[in-house]
Amino acid sequence: MAEPFIITLDGPAGVGKSTLAKRLAEHFSIAYLDTGAMFRATAWKLGEGSWDWSEDKITKALDDFSFSLAGQGSASILSLNNIALTDDIRTEQVGMWASNVARVTVVRDFQKKAQREIGRTTSLVAEGRDMGTVIFPDAEFKFFLDADLEERARRRMLQLEEMGKEADLSQLICQIKERDDQDRNRPVAPLKPAEDAIIVDTTKLDINGVFDCLVQHIKSKS
Ligand code: DC
Repeated sequence: MAEPFIITLDGPAGVGKSTLAKRLAEHFSIAYLDTGAMFRATAWKLGEGSWDWSEDKITKALDDFSFSLAGQGSASILSLNNIALTDDIRTEQVGMWASNVARVTVVRDFQKKAQREIGRTTSLVAEGRDMGTVIFPDAEFKFFLDADLEERARRRMLQLEEMGKEADLSQLICQIKERDDQDRNRPVAPLKPAEDAIIVDTTKLDINGVFDCLVQHIKSKS
């Protein structure tokens, strides 16, 4: 079997990573791994306030967690304990819970192991905060997407509206800022570009523009 091929896509909330990662995965006929969804599902299942539990209690609870990934492209299905994750975890509140549990070292160690295990056998577009820096430092291609805060909040609002969820732009700006500050400033695996990542400012680009830019880069180096 050929070695798995990994493309990493990191960046702050609302920058469009999921949409792009799905499209890239579809284009290259490989799987799409949404690691934010893994943190969201973990926070959702452990529950509010779990980030303040003792290390022992969290470790014991995580013993019952098993993530798996099946399919490819936009049909990639991420499951926790064989149950496919749903849009219930896609609220800003669960995003903040995810950011809270993501600061806990035993949670990060657990996720690192689970994510690397998936990437050991499966070619991936892996999106998150520390894909290029920590989880897949030897990935073939690394991208870091960024955009102005207000533009990201606007994109997140449209995404939530498409899911039929209510959203308020000024509230989203505050929530996303708070979450990004926490993700950027945590001591373990903070949100930052890998030294060898290509940084793309997507503020003034539409999704097709960013997609073309990434595909062109990958093709020119393959
Ligand atoms: O990508 P997202 O908005 O679904 O991620 C939710 C939170 O999960 C994010 O604010 C921080 C955390 N996260 C992380 O710490 N590391 C990752 N690789 C992915 C997400």
